[in-house]
Amino acid sequence: MDRKKFIKTGVSAALVSSFSPSWGKPKNAGAPNDTSVNLSYDVSTWEKIRQAFPLKQNITFLNNGTMGITPNPVLNAITESFTHIAENGAYPHHNNQLETQLATLLGCLPEEIGITKNVSESINHIAWGLPLKSGDEVLITQHEHIGGCAAWMRRAQLEGIRVTAVPIGSTPDECLSLIARAISPKTKAIAVPHIPCTTGQVLPVKAICALAREKGLISVLDGAHPLGMIQFNLREIDCDYYAGCFHKWMLGPIGSGWMYIKKDLIDKTRITHVAAYSVNAFDMSAVPPHMDIPILEVSRYAYGSFSGPHIAGCKAALDWYQLIGPARIENRIKQLNTYLRNKLEDTDGKVKILNAKDPSSQGAQLGFQIMPAHTAQKDPNQGFVNFARENGLILRYVGENKVDCVRVSTHYYNNETEIDRFFELLKDYAWNPASTR
Ligand SMILES: Cc1ncc(COP(=O)(O)O)c(C=O)c1O
Repeated sequence: MDRKKFIKTGVSAALVSSFSPSWGKPKNAGAPNDTSVNLSYDVSTWEKIRQAFPLKQNITFLNNGTMGITPNPVLNAITESFTHIAENGAYPHHNNQLETQLATLLGCLPEEIGITKNVSESINHIAWGLPLKSGDEVLITQHEHIGGCAAWMRRAQLEGIRVTAVPIGSTPDECLSLIARAISPKTKAIAVPHIPCTTGQVLPVKAICALAREKGLISVLDGAHPLGMIQFNLREIDCDYYAGCFHKWMLGPIGSGWMYIKKDLIDKTRITHVAAYSVNAFDMSAVPPHMDIPILEVSRYAYGSFSGPHIAGCKAALDWYQLIGPARIENRIKQLNTYLRNKLEDTDGKVKILNAKDPSSQGAQLGFQIMPAHTAQKDPNQGFVNFARENGLILRYVGENKVDCVRVSTHYYNNETEIDRFFELLKDYAWNPASTR
């Protein structure tokens, strides 16, 4: 099947351009469609933006690091797209609009971007695509999410590659030198998170990728978190591979990921799973049967039928992000994160913050531990997350890799009052003698 035909036929322009931001309730609930709001940093504007989220007012959601909550413009785009398909019998065909939109934002080429279902899938495509053999070493960190490390571990189980997990330092320099020291003659790739899921500390990825290049190693970044949180440019970072998603900080539909492969590495990256959209032409009536080699675009990994409404939702999420403003979002997020940090630092050592303090390591998440010496609670970190949830405040307990901490995420839809509420619950749970459970 001709790829151009995939692109030209099927999905209508209406589906592709269904985004129209609305600030209130979903459109089908009769909401205003007001894009003329003067966006600024004042509190009332952020409150107005908060109204575009259908999240119930009695829930305090400080767990965006697990999954972003969806704003109405994204929900509208998804719903309209599903409705369009149902009403018109339309079939969503590939076009490269989402890839182009994302590539423009990240400073790379559309053909270097492919859409996947999540970060884990992107990492799998990358990990299984690298030319590694038994004994070759891949450096990861001790703070991996299962989605960031599983594919490497599976290659170790099946093919005997060696995976070495390096600790994360408490400063950017320390992070870099821990990785540098771990490099051995067998090392072939450095595959680390841009922002680990455990504490949310931003790692010095540009320096890590420069180190990889200097040593002739492949660099792979698990970027589950940065998109929609901090601004970054893939050309500047200069990594070889990057795996990301729309469903965390970009607030896109759950189950929407993406991947990047540097242009000159696309044809050097093995691809095993292929179908429609991976190749331009095939002919099973030929003898022998013929199929073209996969196209040299990362979209070749997005094969077969896919959810057009998800794509529409991702585009709407990118539009919404641009409408509010990437710099404003990053500033607001960090402002809230600093507010949170100051509160936690002001507890006379009753908590330990795990993230590095310097500004380049700061994102929108903070991992901390409740110090056992100051609390009567058993398993206080897990216990506090449970207690907070019972009180309508959602956090993430990080138990994996023996980190044992509470992770707090602050997105722009949160505010200082919610952080105060979190802190009051923490005090009540951890340091109020009357509340020992
Ligand atoms: C750092 C990191 N990598 C990978 C993943 C897996 O992401 P996904 O669920 O999109 O596959 C997560 C999910 O939280 C994560 O935090």
